[in-house]
Amino acid sequence: MSRNLILKEVVKKLRHLRKREYSRFPILEGHPIAQQHGKEAVESVEILKKLSDKDKKMKEFRIYRWNPHKPNQKPFLQSFFVHLPSCGPMVLDALQKIKGEEDSSLSYRRSCREGICGSCSMNINGVNTVACLKPIDTDTSKPTTITPLPHMFVIKDLVVDLTNFYQQYKSVEPWLKTRKPPPDGREYRQTPEDRKKLDGLYECILCACCTTSCPSYWWNPEEFLGPAALLHAYRWISDSRDEFANERLQAITEDQGRLYRCRTIKNCTACCPKSLNPANAINKMKTIHLTEKPIQDLEAEPEPRFGQA
Ligand code: SF4
Ligand code: SF4
Ligand code: FES
Repeated sequence: MSRNLILKEVVKKLRHLRKREYSRFPILEGHPIAQQHGKEAVESVEILKKLSDKDKKMKEFRIYRWNPHKPNQKPFLQSFFVHLPSCGPMVLDALQKIKGEEDSSLSYRRSCREGICGSCSMNINGVNTVACLKPIDTDTSKPTTITPLPHMFVIKDLVVDLTNFYQQYKSVEPWLKTRKPPPDGREYRQTPEDRKKLDGLYECILCACCTTSCPSYWWNPEEFLGPAALLHAYRWISDSRDEFANERLQAITEDQGRLYRCRTIKNCTACCPKSLNPANAINKMKTIHLTEKPIQDLEAEPEPRFGQA
C-alpha cells in the first residue's frame, strides 16, 4: 500500500473514533478537554460500580499543606487515604470527604461543583485544572498529588492570593462601552452571526488555570496581563456592539509588556478546563496591532477549533 493510502486510512480511522466520542457526548463537540474529563469520569464510575462498600479500594491523595498561623513550619505534602467506593467521582469529592471526615482544617475554594464558578482551580498531578471537573484516577497503585496554582502567593493550603489576577482582569474594563444610547432606547442588539463570534471567548470562568500555567506570567506577573485578562480584552474588542475597540487595543499595547510578553508557548490553551484558546485570542490582537488589519478581516479567516492555537 502506498504511503498516501496508509495516511488516508489512518485519518479515516481517527475521524471515525472522534465521531464515536462525539456521539457519546454530543453536547461536548468541540470541547476536547471536557470530553476527556467526561470519558475518564464514566470509566471511573464504571470501575467503582463494580466494587462493593467492603472493598478496600483506598486511594492516596498527597495534598500541599501550609498554615500561616504556624510560620515556622515549612510547607509539606500530607497523605490522606480515601475509600473510593464511598466517594464521588471527582477530585473535589475526595477533598470534601477528607475535609468532612478527616481534617476540617484543610483549606481550598469551591462553590458550584460543576465547572461554572472557577473557584476550585488547583494543580492536580502537575496540571492546572478545576477539581470539580477532574475525575479521580482510580488506579490505587499511584497517589494523586494536589498543590496550589503554581507561582502564586499561598494564603493557606490550596488557597492562593488572586488579587493581582483580578486587578488585571479589571484593568481591561470587561464591560460593554458605547458612545451613544441604544437606537431603540432599550438595548444594544446584535445579529446572531455577530453573537456567534463571541463563542469560545465568553465562556471563561476566570479560574486562572491558564494565567498561572504561563511561564511568561511567572516571570512578569506585574507587567504582563496574562492569558485570562487578555482573552477578556479580546472578547470585548471583537464584540460588534462595543465602540471602544481601538482604545482597548491601545491600552494593552501602549506598554510593550502587557500583551507582547506572550511568547506563544501555549501552555494556557493546553490547560484551560473549558477548552478555550487564549493563545489564539492573543495572536489575533497582536496581528490587529501589527498589521492594522480591521478585526472583520481577521474574523473572515478560518477559526481554529477550541483547544488549538
Ligand atoms: S501563549 Fe502566551 S499567554 Fe499562553 S502560555 Fe504561552 S506565553 Fe503564556
Ligand atoms: S481561559 Fe480557561 S483557563 Fe483561563 S481563566 Fe478562562 S476558563 Fe480558566
Ligand atoms: S467548584 Fe465551581 S468550578 Fe469547581
